[in-house]
Amino acid sequence: MAPLIDPYLRPITYLRLSVTDRCDFRCTYCMTEHMQFLPKADLLTLEELDRLSSAFIDLGVKKLRITGGEPLVRKGIMTYFRAMSRHLASGALNELTLTTNGSQLAKFATELADCGVRRINVSLDTLDSAKFKQITRWGRLSQVLEGISAAKAAGMRVKINTVALKGFNEGELFGLLEWCAAEGHDLTFIEVMPMGDMEETYRLGQFWSLTDLRTRLAAQFTLVDLPERTGGPARYVRLEQTGQKIGFITPLSHNFCESCNRVRLTCTGELYMCLGQEDRADLRSVLRGSADDAQVTAAIRAAIALKPKGHDFDYSRQKVAGQMSRHMSHTGG
Ligand code: GTP
Ligand code: 5AD
Ligand code: SF4
Repeated sequence: MAPLIDPYLRPITYLRLSVTDRCDFRCTYCMTEHMQFLPKADLLTLEELDRLSSAFIDLGVKKLRITGGEPLVRKGIMTYFRAMSRHLASGALNELTLTTNGSQLAKFATELADCGVRRINVSLDTLDSAKFKQITRWGRLSQVLEGISAAKAAGMRVKINTVALKGFNEGELFGLLEWCAAEGHDLTFIEVMPMGDMEETYRLGQFWSLTDLRTRLAAQFTLVDLPERTGGPARYVRLEQTGQKIGFITPLSHNFCESCNRVRLTCTGELYMCLGQEDRADLRSVLRGSADDAQVTAAIRAAIALKPKGHDFDYSRQKVAGQMSRHMSHTGG
């Protein structure tokens, strides 16, 4: 089958699939405390998730990342992971992975590794348990650290994702670095994006540019830019003195949309062509309307033909531009 190419000639080879909008945490920058979640009946079934993911893989998707909400709170999700491992075995898929808050990893790490998951991304913004509670509202740091240890023990590589937050984790830059070095985890910093209906002053107040973070790192270490890519938006450096690899995801300070290779599917079967735009296509009705996969494939191609050039997030005029009212948990980041 002809590969998926968007209007800007970008090959689409990475699918991020959100399997639930629910989460057992309520991170302040991601959700309000009293979120209204979707009725369960609106969700794609595990069989439908399989059918849709497989259609994307037939169209040349090589990297499949499962997200949420928190993907591991979706009931029966291991059945889906097990089913997807057949695409790894056949060689159709290069990577099956997930982004998780880590809370359920102690329970699922061994099985995930057994399904062929070799690398996972765990969100962790602080190593201080009181601050962890403050930022996640409902989370418990010790549970997440146990989950991360379980993932490592199961043989998976762990990448820690830290949202850089002014006045919150600035003081932990070197602490996080040291902890990751000691544990053998990779570490990536992310700039906070204007997703969800948070106030402008809140978003501007918490924004910590990775340009500044990088300058602080460079005062202590020699940074060597690395050409390597993981297929996501991060750009990596190596700290010459320790050999440690650090990633930067800079949607605000350095736009990376030019090399975008991904689309996002929500748990209700909406395909979002960009994280920072409203453009989307309803694949659930196509899926439910016909048992013919050719129609699903045609709907996916038609959607990719409408992929926008990029997001319009911008804080540079001391105003929030390009804000999306939908929450990050809707599309899985
Ligand atoms: P790797 O496989 O490790 O490269 O993962 P990844 O960076 O693709 O995935 P991850 O789930 O760790 O994403 C980290 C952050 O990057 C999340 O907050 C995402 O929202 C953000 N991100 C991923 N893709 C995009 C994108 O296309 N645009 C924007 N603005 N942010 C993105
Ligand atoms: N800006 C940047 N990253 C965010 N995340 C959640 N909300 C935001 C936001 N507004 C991160 C989570 C997780 C990833 C999926 O998205 O911390 O690492
Ligand atoms: Fe849950 Fe992740 Fe959102 Fe936190 S950032 S509330 S862990 S989905």
